Amino acid sequence: MIDLTVVEDAEAAARACAEVVSAAIEAACAARGVAHVALAGGRTPARTYELLAEIVTDWRDVHLWFGDERCVPLDDPDSNDTLVRRALLERLPDDPVSPRPTVHAVARAGDGDPAAAAADYEREMRAVVPGDPFPVLDLALLGLGEDGHTASLFPDDPALGERERLCVAVHGRKPPFERVTLTLPVLRAARAIVVLTAGAGKAWAVAEMLAGPSPHVPASLLGEGGAVELIADRAAAPNGG
Ligand code: 6PG
Repeated sequence: MIDLTVVEDAEAAARACAEVVSAAIEAACAARGVAHVALAGGRTPARTYELLAEIVTDWRDVHLWFGDERCVPLDDPDSNDTLVRRALLERLPDDPVSPRPTVHAVARAGDGDPAAAAADYEREMRAVVPGDPFPVLDLALLGLGEDGHTASLFPDDPALGERERLCVAVHGRKPPFERVTLTLPVLRAARAIVVLTAGAGKAWAVAEMLAGPSPHVPASLLGEGGAVELIADRAAAPNGG
């Protein structure tokens, strides 16, 4: 089931998303003493990350993961690691009394062996995040491509059929093309899934996502495990929201 929240514009969407993520972090830490959050890549979530740096005050028990990563060096401007570092981590207080989150980068993304990077990341997630048969993230924050992709799960890609692996290498349709991505089983196992999108360019994908599950629209497959919160601005929402 997909719960659509329509807000006025991209800034309002970023703020609504930051508040959902912040609340999930607080609830997870209160309930289990730790929060595991997978972050989205691309451009849209950058403002959300900037806002999270302002509103989350205690990062000590927060583990940040990546829903996907481009197979480039982690310091490459195109890496999602760079996105999170610049939009969130560099904005956190850099003093010993303000503990920082534990960031689980896709360490081998830039090594030229995507399959090894994916296997390595899977091993790390299985070792750190509790859950069986799949690690249970507290929240998976995901974006939405104009073609309906999410993370690096692209339309009709064989990776959509993966039912055991947590993380796989893909040749995507959006440059940089070589990527690693979390798979549907681990995304669906998350306690909360939030898809953030904005702009008229995403209106088709939003409508298709709401129309029902289809491998042609990977983001529409997220809801088969449970609820998905879709936060969209009016420009991306059906009939302007
Ligand atoms: C990536 C993302 C990808 C992204 C969508 C939307 O690494 O590219 O994980 O799934 O969320 O392509 O990207 P924009 O937010 O830039 O439109």
